[in-house]
Amino acid sequence: MSDQIKSRERVQEHGEVFTNPREVNAMLDMVKQETERIESRFLEPACGTGNFLIEIIRRKMAVVAQRYRKSLLEYERYTFLAASSIYGVELLEDNARECRSRLLKFVDGEAARAFKDKVEPALHDAVSFVLERNILCGDALTLKASDGEPIIFSEWSLATGDRVKRRDFRLDELLEGSNKQPSFAQLTWDWDEEIHAFIPAPIREYPLCDWREVRACG
Ligand SMILES: C[S@@+](CC[C@H](N)C(=O)[O-])C[C@H]1O[C@@H](n2cnc3c(N)ncnc32)[C@H](O)[C@@H]1O
Repeated sequence: MSDQIKSRERVQEHGEVFTNPREVNAMLDMVKQETERIESRFLEPACGTGNFLIEIIRRKMAVVAQRYRKSLLEYERYTFLAASSIYGVELLEDNARECRSRLLKFVDGEAARAFKDKVEPALHDAVSFVLERNILCGDALTLKASDGEPIIFSEWSLATGDRVKRRDFRLDELLEGSNKQPSFAQLTWDWDEEIHAFIPAPIREYPLCDWREVRACG
């Protein structure tokens, strides 16, 4: 089997044919500026083992390394931001798991390359938690997670200093919100001038906390 195919059965049952790096790069180059913006959010609805997401994090982390190579604290903070801006949905649990561990290994490797053993273990733990929340096993057609509940994604935004704000949204509402006027029951949704769409209200907001403590805050 090639790198693009795990088995004939998986191709037949799930259309599982992975995209090769040359095509991934050509497609991402169409939105090159966004892939190099550290906080720019990407969602891949059938992410497989993460061929697109790994290239996106590679591009973002190249910018982080170039901009913050002189300050470990800034490097760690913006690495957290880069990792927390990447989202995926994947039907098969083994692929979702592989995707998370590939991304985490890549982030760990880049951080070690930039700052060797000075990197705080908290970075590994925080990125690991964020990837558990951001790369979900579920169905991108029904927008349900593997437990049958609606897919819920967390938005992570850096506030002042090292503090991060987490807000949870239902994916079905986010997708619906961009297409139509909110109904009467959804009057709390905000109009976003920049993207010209209604943004649904979060289903849950968390208190600000240090990025190193996101696992405990969740
Ligand atoms: C053609 S592969 C592409 C994987 C990856 N995007 C890439 O380019 O390498 C399609 C992937 O979508 C997954 N998949 C199929 N149906 C899905 C669904 N309804 N929701 C989420 N993922 C799905 C498959 O398991 C497979 O990993």
